[in-house]
Amino acid sequence: MDINSLVQPHLARIKTYTPVDPPEILAKRAGIPEDQVIKLNGNENQYGPSPKAVAAIANAALHVYPDPAQRSIRSALAEYTGLGVEHIVAGAGSDELIDLLFRLFVSIGDTVIDSDPTFGMYDFGARLAGANIALVPRDDRFDVDIVGVVSAAREHDAKLVFIASPNNPTGNLTPENDVRELLSAGLIVVVDEAYYEFCGVTMAGLVPEFENLVVLRTMSKWAGLAGLRIGYGLMSPTLAQRIMDIKSPYNVNIAAEAALVASLGDTEELLGRVQKIVVERDRVMELLEATSGVIPWPSSGNFILCRFDSGRTGEIYDGLAARGIFVRRFSTERLHDTFRISIGSPPQNDALIATMRSLLEGGS
Ligand SMILES: Cc1ncc(COP(=O)(O)O)c(C=O)c1O
Repeated sequence: MDINSLVQPHLARIKTYTPVDPPEILAKRAGIPEDQVIKLNGNENQYGPSPKAVAAIANAALHVYPDPAQRSIRSALAEYTGLGVEHIVAGAGSDELIDLLFRLFVSIGDTVIDSDPTFGMYDFGARLAGANIALVPRDDRFDVDIVGVVSAAREHDAKLVFIASPNNPTGNLTPENDVRELLSAGLIVVVDEAYYEFCGVTMAGLVPEFENLVVLRTMSKWAGLAGLRIGYGLMSPTLAQRIMDIKSPYNVNIAAEAALVASLGDTEELLGRVQKIVVERDRVMELLEATSGVIPWPSSGNFILCRFDSGRTGEIYDGLAARGIFVRRFSTERLHDTFRISIGSPPQNDALIATMRSLLEGGS
């Protein structure tokens, strides 16, 4: 029997997502101890989680299933976001909510719009769902081509569009007027605000007004909980109920639940760290601007996209990796001469810049 022949055809031939490896694997690759790895490839938070979250996890009742109705999570998030609990659903990372939105709205053969370049999970989710992808490239400034998206949606009868704002990996925001235009065109618009706390710009205020708007957020970035996998969505009560109905009952584990509630009780500390990361991002931006051969793209997130005009992107990337500094490269044609750096601690960023400069000058 060929077991492969029994797999759904669109999944058997899937082009999979390229994830980032954990520090121990990166350390082996560079041949250095793990504590010397400078991991700037996952937009993680170098400050780690709130100490209150760590204490809450230590006290969590790990032998008990978590609350399938997510009561304590939703009520803590209601206080944090200002929206009622009926608007809120949590997932095992916002990645899970992306997947659930595909399950809810997309059938095999449907078309999904992708505003390239953007976060790769939308394209991956569409492929998992067996959907076709209509690529509507962002413009020269990486802004979403709103007219193009609406016309592609009409042409292909597409209903779902994801807008990351700030966009990963380009760092730019999508203005509210553009989001309103997409909403008015009748599309289900998912505004992915994974980096909201780094810029303070949100479409959450539009959620009570538009049934076709979903705002996604995560605890991975600002709250330093990427390893726990917890994110949430803000949407109309009808849609929130639909997602509650189809999610697996215990999708958010009890440690993540405890950590989210504790983190939302420690926002002053966590948002203070976010501010430090923003200040550091601006410092790194200035250093990059002063480095010849690199063109950094202004960012509202905790990362910066760098373009190299020398055709030496691969060489610089490899040179950094050989010295234990890991950044994120992309396989798409449009980003082939770029990589994205996540903002690390000041010494990590200084090491990155110094190594980059030496590699660009042809040193070793
Ligand atoms: C735009 C965007 N959305 C979602 C995610 C994933 O978030 P989570 O860790 O909550 O799954 C990321 C992570 O890099 C991201 O950049």
